[in-house]
Amino acid sequence: MPVITCIEDLRVLAKRRVPRMFYDYVDAGSWTESTYRNNSLDLASIKLRQRVAVDMDRRTLATRMIGENVSMPVALAPVGLTGMQHGDGEIHAARAAEKFGVPFVLSTMSICSIEDVAANTSRPFWFQLYVMRDRDFIGRLIDRAKAAGCSALVLTLDLQILGQRHKDLKNGLSTPPKPTLRNIANMATKPRWCWSMLQTRRRSFGNIVGHASGVGDMSSLSQWTAQQFDPTLNWDDVAWIKERWGGKLILKGIMDPEDAMLAVRSGADALIVSNHGGRQLDGAPSSIAALPAIVDAVGGDIEVWVDGGIRSGQDVIRALALGARGTLIGRAFVYGLGALGEAGVTKALQLIANELDLTMAFCGLRDVNAVDGSILFRN
Ligand code: GLV
Repeated sequence: MPVITCIEDLRVLAKRRVPRMFYDYVDAGSWTESTYRNNSLDLASIKLRQRVAVDMDRRTLATRMIGENVSMPVALAPVGLTGMQHGDGEIHAARAAEKFGVPFVLSTMSICSIEDVAANTSRPFWFQLYVMRDRDFIGRLIDRAKAAGCSALVLTLDLQILGQRHKDLKNGLSTPPKPTLRNIANMATKPRWCWSMLQTRRRSFGNIVGHASGVGDMSSLSQWTAQQFDPTLNWDDVAWIKERWGGKLILKGIMDPEDAMLAVRSGADALIVSNHGGRQLDGAPSSIAALPAIVDAVGGDIEVWVDGGIRSGQDVIRALALGARGTLIGRAFVYGLGALGEAGVTKALQLIANELDLTMAFCGLRDVNAVDGSILFRN
């Protein structure tokens, strides 16, 4: 077993252990993947200001996101098909998040259902909503999240249509995977994954199958999304969803200050600056590049968070320094899950917390709530 010292180690191990179509689903962006790459590259280019001879004792990463106490300002982002990275993946990730004291966001496109995750955790998690054409189903989905005690709804606004991901098309991504020779040959080289999948019956979309009427063939994810997701989604729908939900609302996928202002007007509690991990509009700027203008426009009116490209505690502190009050990680925890199950998610969180803690100290601070633009190195 290799010594794991960074998220990259978890990625390498996940690539070895997870069947190609599911590893590729995560480690991919749309079209040329330029936005996907720039999310990380732009973060890495932000330089930090080192301070010395300041008291670095008694440090804390604890803060709040939408009023909830968190052990660090990092939530686990909603990731579709998490339960295909490892059997019962969403339950494992939610448990790791709960023990670590950070929020877990369950995707609409999860394998384990809202009820499965609620039955296997003891603290409220957040539910991410995709809006589909079947509004009865969406209404019931919101009600199910409420009944399960979810403490926030994360409404994704940037996936009415799906960006083309070449790898998914080439791999014939489906869940469960089709029993083709190629898939069987690939899975045969992943005994840990096969074993974890044999331990569970959850191998399809738990929130959808058996709950939505008229759901036909889900074997082609891209075709299914094109049929079911509602391309007419607009701000009136956001108002309707807010009303039906009646709790804390977070809007995900904002990349423009004008949209951020509309998000504030909608009455949402937080917004997430996000380009969907570079999986939607290829050619959009990195989310860290989009962040400062949005913070300038609405940072005093709403909590602004960011996701995309965060692979370390250094990246988290960079986002905070540019004005984000919270961050989300997707791939970073999913690699941990694919590599080592729940322990791998915990490992990812530990790595990021440790990097964040030490980096904060090197920048001369002891309290994560004090991080601001003054820790940035400017020529
Ligand atoms: C869905 O959330 C995706 O990006 O595949």
